[in-house]
Amino acid sequence: MEYTLSTNNIKVPKMIYGTAWKKEKTASLVKEAILSGFRGIDTACQPRHYQEDLVGDGIQEAYKEGIKREDLYIQTKFTPIDGQDKNNMPYLESDSISLQVEKSFETSKKNLKTDYIDTYILHSPVFPGSKLLNVWNTMSSFQKNKEVGQLGISNCYDLDVLKYLYEKVEIKPAIVQNRFYAQTSYDKTIRQWCDEKGIIYESFWSLTANPEILNSELIFTLSRKYKRTNVSVFYRFLNQIGIIPLNGTTTKEHMIEDLKIFEFSLEKEDIKKILELLK
Ligand SMILES: NC(=O)c1ccc[n+]([C@@H]2O[C@H](COP(=O)([O-])OP(=O)(O)OC[C@H]3O[C@@H](n4cnc5c(N)ncnc54)[C@H](OP(=O)(O)O)[C@@H]3O)[C@@H](O)[C@H]2O)c1
Repeated sequence: MEYTLSTNNIKVPKMIYGTAWKKEKTASLVKEAILSGFRGIDTACQPRHYQEDLVGDGIQEAYKEGIKREDLYIQTKFTPIDGQDKNNMPYLESDSISLQVEKSFETSKKNLKTDYIDTYILHSPVFPGSKLLNVWNTMSSFQKNKEVGQLGISNCYDLDVLKYLYEKVEIKPAIVQNRFYAQTSYDKTIRQWCDEKGIIYESFWSLTANPEILNSELIFTLSRKYKRTNVSVFYRFLNQIGIIPLNGTTTKEHMIEDLKIFEFSLEKEDIKKILELLK
């Protein structure tokens, strides 16, 4: 595994295993991913899409095989009420927003059986700005208590919102986790700003939203040149332009294949050619 060092000196694996939509298979897949070589796990306290408790069980199973907590990078999220199933959520609708964050964080630690979360992510911005700052300041208190290594924000496609947050808060975001697709011009402006601020950009939907790229003539040509799969070429490309992809595979075969991206590098000229596809 290769790592990127964050502004908080936290080692973030260059490919992170995503645990959404795995349902009852979550624990066995998380164990499999870790034993295959993944060291980063992404989840959320959002029972609608993630079985965070089973993520915790899978991690425990990996510990039995010799993996230690300090070998792993774990990130989870606070999901605001709009993203929750109101019949199954870690807090009450009537709780104050800061109590909702606190309750969700307690549930996450219990689910993941840890007292330390490497990156705690706000699943999507909340509005108005005063509410966003309230949520962020509550999340920041966990970092001040050393229960969290750093903070992140997800589904933030408006640079003005990111800038607002960055300027107003004491503890700055260290991670932005966004959908990587054509509709947002692949977040070019946001990624450039993140680079300037030393913020790590994580991508999701990297495969599912980009079939035209994966099936392009160029990627096929490069796949033959490097003797790697189309997916491997694309993941390596993402890494080499500074993006950390989340990987949601459900097969051992793909886990093993995808982790081999660290065995090769694309030449600069080829990276330039793939960048043309993002225009
Ligand atoms: N922050 C958010 O709001 C948000 C939203 C969505 C997702 N996420 C995170 O991102 C993670 C990944 O989800 P995603 O939607 O971005 O999915 P993805 O990783 O882009 O795509 C996974 C799909 O691609 C297929 N696939 C084919 N070849 C593959 C290969 N070599 N390696 C990996 N997958 C391959 C997988 O099938 P096989 O199973 O057959 O390999 C699976 O159906 C989620 O689990 C979650 O943690 C976050």
